[in-house]
Amino acid sequence: IERGEKVVFVGKNGEGKSTLVKCIMGETKFDGTLTLGHNVMIGYFAQNQASLLDEELTVFQTIDDVAKGDIRTKIKDILGAFMFGGENSAKKVKVLSGGERTRLAMIKLLLESVNLLILDEPTNHLDLKTKDILKTALKEFDGTLIVVSHDRDFLNGLVDKVYEFGNKRVIEHLGGIYDFLEKKRIDNLRELERNN
Ligand SMILES: Nc1ncnc2c1ncn2[C@@H]1O[C@H](COP(=O)(O)OP(=O)(O)OP(=O)(O)O)[C@@H](O)[C@H]1O
Ligand SMILES: [Mg+2]
Repeated sequence: IERGEKVVFVGKNGEGKSTLVKCIMGETKFDGTLTLGHNVMIGYFAQNQASLLDEELTVFQTIDDVAKGDIRTKIKDILGAFMFGGENSAKKVKVLSGGERTRLAMIKLLLESVNLLILDEPTNHLDLKTKDILKTALKEFDGTLIVVSHDRDFLNGLVDKVYEFGNKRVIEHLGGIYDFLEKKRIDNLRELERNN
C-alpha cells in the first residue's frame, strides 16, 4: 500500500480482516514480515473502539484532552460539524448512544496528527448523515487510509483499491468498490457471504 492510497479490506465474516489490521498494529503475533514506511504514524479505530472511551468524561472533555496546538481554537467547530453542538457537548460519555460514541471516537482520531488511518468497521453505528460527514472528512484526509467495511455507499468514491479476503487468500483489485462489485457480478458486499 503506497503513500496516499485509500484502500478497503472486504470479505466474509471471520476471513481475517481485523486480524491483519491487528498484525499491522502489533497487537497480535504473526509469521512473516511486516514493513511500515518511513515516518508512518498510525491512527487506529478498532472494531470496538467506541467502547474504549472514558465514561465519566463529557464530550467536550474527551476532545479537549486530545486536541493539541492550533487545533484547540477549532474544538467547538469540529464538535458542531459532528453534531455535538451546544448542550450536547456537555453530555457524559456514559449516556451517549452507540452512534454518538462512534462519532466521538472518530473526532478524537481525526484530531491526531497521523498519516495512516486504519479504520475497522467505522460506520457500524452511524446514521446516513454522520456517515456522510465521516466520508467527507476521510476524502479530505491527505494521508493513507485502510478501511474495513461492508458499506458499499460509504466506500463509493472513497477507495481506489479493494483487497478481497477469502479462501485463505487476499486478492488485490484495482479500482473502486463498484468496479469490484461488477467484476464479482454482485450487487452489494453482503452477497460475498453467499458467493465465493
Ligand atoms: N485470538 C484468537 N484466537 C483464536 N482465533 C481467533 C483469534 N482472533 C481471531 N480469531 C479467529 O480468526 C478468524 C478471523 O477473525 P477476524 O476477526 O480477523 O475476522 P474478520 O474478517 O474481521 O471478520 P468480521 O467481518 O466478522 O469482523 C475468526 O474465525 C476468528 O474467530
Ligand atoms: Mg473484523
